[in-house]
Amino acid sequence: MILPIVAYGHPTLKKVAEDITPDYPGLQQLISDMWETMYAAHGVGLAAPQVNKSIRLFVIDASPYGEEHPELKDFKKVFINAHITDERGEEVTMSEGCLSIPGLNEDVSRKPSLTITYLDENFNPHTEEYSGFVARVIQHEYDHIDGVLYVDRLSAMRKLLLKNKLKDISEGRIDVDYKMIFPGLYKRRK
Ligand code: NI
Repeated sequence: MILPIVAYGHPTLKKVAEDITPDYPGLQQLISDMWETMYAAHGVGLAAPQVNKSIRLFVIDASPYGEEHPELKDFKKVFINAHITDERGEEVTMSEGCLSIPGLNEDVSRKPSLTITYLDENFNPHTEEYSGFVARVIQHEYDHIDGVLYVDRLSAMRKLLLKNKLKDISEGRIDVDYKMIFPGLYKRRK
């Protein structure tokens, strides 16, 4: 089932999400719905807070980038209760977008390499190291489960310049071809 994606300004996107246990109700269905939702919106990653669940779960399928980055050919993973234990290297700038902030792309600086521990969809533990493009996708999704959006990492000046654009997004005054929940719209209607 395709789930609606919550837009910028939704309170769930600001919450630090909680770890889950294998008996979390409907977990396998939720994971399956998140894949379906992500593919329908042409995303590379999707975090549970984006479908209004404040839990530490995100999914990434970087395989569409396998042509430019051969190591990503089979990269399709579920990350549960993830914790980035180390980030290293000189910060690099890369353009990021987010399914919760449609129509916007901004340069974001982050460290290029990381170590992450997480559980897969069968609750098997993993500790892995990543660099480059996929590390960037992981950092972006990981931010979501910590209640952080990439626009929170922009300079105060840049964020001020984007203020009206972000307000338009939260109130649904945008073109988007997937199902969304616009928090600002509900606020206005009340
Ligand atoms: Ni995002």
